[in-house]
Amino acid sequence: MPQGDGAAPACAPPEAVFAPFAAGRPDAPFVVGQLGQSLDGRIATVTGHSKYINGTAALDHLHAIRARVDAVLVGVGTALADDPLLTVRRVPGRSPARIVLDPGGRLPAAAAVWRADGARRIVLRRGGVEAPLPDGVEAVALPADDAGGVDPRTIVAALGRLGIARLLVEGGADTVSRFLAAGALDRLHVLVSPMLIGSGRPGLTLAPIDTVGEALRPRARAYLLADGDVLFDCDLRSEAAGGA
Ligand SMILES: NC(=O)c1ccc[n+]([C@@H]2O[C@H](COP(=O)([O-])OP(=O)(O)OC[C@H]3O[C@@H](n4cnc5c(N)ncnc54)[C@H](OP(=O)(O)O)[C@@H]3O)[C@@H](O)[C@H]2O)c1
Repeated sequence: MPQGDGAAPACAPPEAVFAPFAAGRPDAPFVVGQLGQSLDGRIATVTGHSKYINGTAALDHLHAIRARVDAVLVGVGTALADDPLLTVRRVPGRSPARIVLDPGGRLPAAAAVWRADGARRIVLRRGGVEAPLPDGVEAVALPADDAGGVDPRTIVAALGRLGIARLLVEGGADTVSRFLAAGALDRLHVLVSPMLIGSGRPGLTLAPIDTVGEALRPRARAYLLADGDVLFDCDLRSEAAGGA
């Protein structure tokens, strides 16, 4: 990518962005969320088309995160829309366990995420929900509130009891937003592409606030990637030094 005068040199994110992952333990799992979005904060068009908002360097980074966690979790909306593999293919490393948060049992047994390739596979459902699953997929029943919501902190604790010490919440926006709102993310990696979609599905959505002073202001570092995307590595356990 051409660099203007004074522009930061593009680079792969340093290994240091993965250092915080080491803090994860089954009794206190480390949780990192990721979202890839356009400059105007969209993760897909109005039709749900999203392949690909980010460039190859951002995809490499996503696979590098997958290679460093015990498990990757997506919401059922993503599993239905994208039918993802959730494996590590673009970088060296082992594929993590695959988890789908599917409270109502909507995901078909034929979903790509459930194919048997040696990786652990787990579905998270509301208690009492039954739906067919392929052999070997573990089903975990979780309590839900009256609106059907499952507390993300309950999810993290339940996965810790299954031995998961490092968890990637890979999307979609609804799932990552709920983890963020619940205070269940330690870190958030937002990969911003210099693309303007102008309409479509928004990225993170939280409850309305009245003043900018109430906004979350995590300590963050930015890295310019090789093909022009920017990685924001946000530490949600630590606030940035004050605003204006
Ligand atoms: N740009 C990116 O980085 C990225 C990453 C992943 C996906 N995507 C895109 O995002 C779109 C899908 O995202 P999405 O936001 O619509 O769906 P999503 O987050 O993948 O899944 C949302 C669904 O998951 C369940 N869910 C999530 N958290 C829950 C909780 N705490 N309690 C209870 N249920 C919970 C609910 O299922 P029920 O409705 O069954 O209750 C909810 O409707 C697709 O277009 C995909 O291509 C983009």
